[in-house]
Amino acid sequence: MKVVLCRDAHEAAALVADEILAALARKPDLVLGLCTGSTPVEVYERLRAARARGAASFARVRTFNLDEYLDLPADHPQSYRHFMRRHLFDGLDVRPEHVHFPPAEGDDLTRRCAAFEETIRAVGGIDLMLLGIGRNGHIGFNEPTSSLASRTRVKTLADRTLEDNARFYGPDEVMPRLAVTMGIGTILDARRVLLQAIGPKKAEAVRSMVEGPVSSVFPASALQLHADVTGYFDPDAASLLAERAYYAKTRVLELELQRAGRL
Ligand code: PGA
Repeated sequence: MKVVLCRDAHEAAALVADEILAALARKPDLVLGLCTGSTPVEVYERLRAARARGAASFARVRTFNLDEYLDLPADHPQSYRHFMRRHLFDGLDVRPEHVHFPPAEGDDLTRRCAAFEETIRAVGGIDLMLLGIGRNGHIGFNEPTSSLASRTRVKTLADRTLEDNARFYGPDEVMPRLAVTMGIGTILDARRVLLQAIGPKKAEAVRSMVEGPVSSVFPASALQLHADVTGYFDPDAASLLAERAYYAKTRVLELELQRAGRL
């Protein structure tokens, strides 16, 4: 896994947004995998700003969101469809029919999850997958012990996830206990993965993901099996990495090769 040690959260967001915009410039019909949570918010702001100043068009982009809570209606303030409209889609020219979420309402979920996977395949697969990481190592709602080959399906949320999400819910609101999420296998099929982690609460998770053993007990460690993953971490999130000096050196040398046009 490639590690980029960022000065702060803003630098991480700027680098991730720049990567997405560069990929979009190369491929106007880019297929994006998108996540929710507090981590990607500034990336999304930057994408909206690029669109507003006419620096990017998303008219041909297709998006596939990573996950959604089961049975929350699309207009529920805690639903991820609501989050994505508010933080990203309302400020972009992405076409509504190009926006996809895992099926999280109604029946026949197993078949519709398979259809969601088929839609990803039919558009040629995800080019760029944006991820955050949970403190328990989840990516999407692939909670600990998720199969490393899993596909889109219904998952039960872990207690740690419910605790972390409690801050978004009022005392009288019922938190969903189930979600529909892309599987780890689905995520590993993306051509390139960008993962951001910010803040001291993510330090243990970042260490396990980058330097720990590959294990379903820590689902994000499965990303070690992917050939093209870059992690963007602020100093707090990177603080427990043992090989920080190596990652810093690697970044400098790689940028030199890039500048010389050799990569
Ligand atoms: P966060 O969530 O961005 O709100 O920290 C990340 C996650 O749980 O995947």
